[in-house]
Amino acid sequence: MKLATSIVLLTASSRATAQTQSSKRGLVFVPPDNPKFVHDNQVWVEASSDLSWYYNYQPSPSAAYSNRSQAEFEFVPMLWSPSDTFATTIQGLISGGRNITHVMGFNEPDGTVSTGGSSLDPVTAAKSWIEQIEPLRQMGIKAGAPGVTGSPRGFTWLNDFFSSCASQGTNCTADFFPVHWYGDFGGLASHMGQVYGTYNKSIWVTEYALNNQSLSVTQEFFNTSMEYFDRLAYVERYSYFGSFRSDVSNVGPNAAMLNGNGQLTDIGNWYLGRAAQGNLPTEGRAAGFKAGSKIALAVTVFAGWWAL
Ligand SMILES: *[C@@H]1O[C@H](CO)[C@@H](O)[C@H](O)[C@H]1NC(C)=O
Ligand SMILES: *[C@@H]1O[C@H](CO)[C@@H](O)[C@H](O)[C@H]1NC(C)=O
Ligand SMILES: *[C@@H]1O[C@H](CO)[C@@H](O)[C@H](O)[C@H]1NC(C)=O
Ligand SMILES: *[C@@H]1O[C@H](CO)[C@@H](O)[C@H](O)[C@H]1NC(C)=O
Ligand SMILES: *[C@@H]1O[C@H](CO)[C@@H](O)[C@H](O)[C@H]1NC(C)=O
Ligand SMILES: *[C@@H]1O[C@H](CO)[C@@H](O)[C@H](O)[C@H]1NC(C)=O
Repeated sequence: MKLATSIVLLTASSRATAQTQSSKRGLVFVPPDNPKFVHDNQVWVEASSDLSWYYNYQPSPSAAYSNRSQAEFEFVPMLWSPSDTFATTIQGLISGGRNITHVMGFNEPDGTVSTGGSSLDPVTAAKSWIEQIEPLRQMGIKAGAPGVTGSPRGFTWLNDFFSSCASQGTNCTADFFPVHWYGDFGGLASHMGQVYGTYNKSIWVTEYALNNQSLSVTQEFFNTSMEYFDRLAYVERYSYFGSFRSDVSNVGPNAAMLNGNGQLTDIGNWYLGRAAQGNLPTEGRAAGFKAGSKIALAVTVFAGWWAL
């Protein structure tokens, strides 16, 4: 009896909160590779959208949002892989009037380039972090740790990274830890717990989805995970993967936020804080889709992950 009551309450509370607003919610911006679809870029920043920040895997803001101020739609720069000009680029953005407060370091350094990673050895990454990220931290900018994959080798990579910093004479300090996850909710929650338990820092879930599942299972995962992120104090921000059409999705059509006509799917509408319209994802790759496009580059590593 007691058990049944609490299950009902839990269900009710997750329904009630699924459509609420959240200052944590942002956009992983994966620009459409088809120039006919540029209007897809603007759906995320319409007045009724709940998204308050974005990243695009790059140091500079996207042209699609260059007319949005940092206060309207906060841009978070990323050092994808080593570059000698990252810190000066960020300093340039700031002197140009853009109030950058957070940056992120390295995308999936433990993943291969073919699956969207930067395939970076921890020693090289440490050298680059010391040169490019530490000076920004001295200016008060908060830095996200290298965004490793959800595979267990991510922990090994980070451990090697922090030791490499120390052997190069600097303690690299991350203010928050980006998490990537493709899989079910149980696995996601357990992985987040492990990251938090290991590093005791805030988490940003910067790529996540339940890939290649039925629509109802995908939507249930989406609702449950979003409610969890909104409720959990140590989750500072999150960004769902992804912001592309279902027919070019590398995570299966049902996970996408746009259908083949560029309309928001139900997940897309819920993510923006709106009511569903019943737009169903459409399957199959669009003509002209190129492997190795921005979408393919951005997608995380399942091949490696399943192979483990
Ligand atoms: C910003 O530019 C885009 C095109 O790049 C346009 O669609 C949008 O309406 C503009 N937004 C504002 C607020 O000016
Ligand atoms: C920059 O943004 C932060 C966080 O929103 C704020 O605390 C700070 O006052 C801003 N700085 C400037 C110069 O606007
Ligand atoms: C790095 O951190 C360790 C442990 O907190 C400390 O002993 C060491 O002095 C620090 N090294 C530098 C260069 O700050
Ligand atoms: C975790 O970090 C908080 C500060 O954010 C600190 O108060 C706490 O003692 C830390 N816990 C552990 C187990 O290190
Ligand atoms: C997900 O949440 C939406 C919005 O609250 C709700 O309408 C829908 O029924 C939920 N779906 C599932 C599978 O939980
Ligand atoms: C998921 O679906 C996409 C496209 O629908 C496909 O390219 C990919 O191989 C699938 N991945 C897995 C792990 O089944």
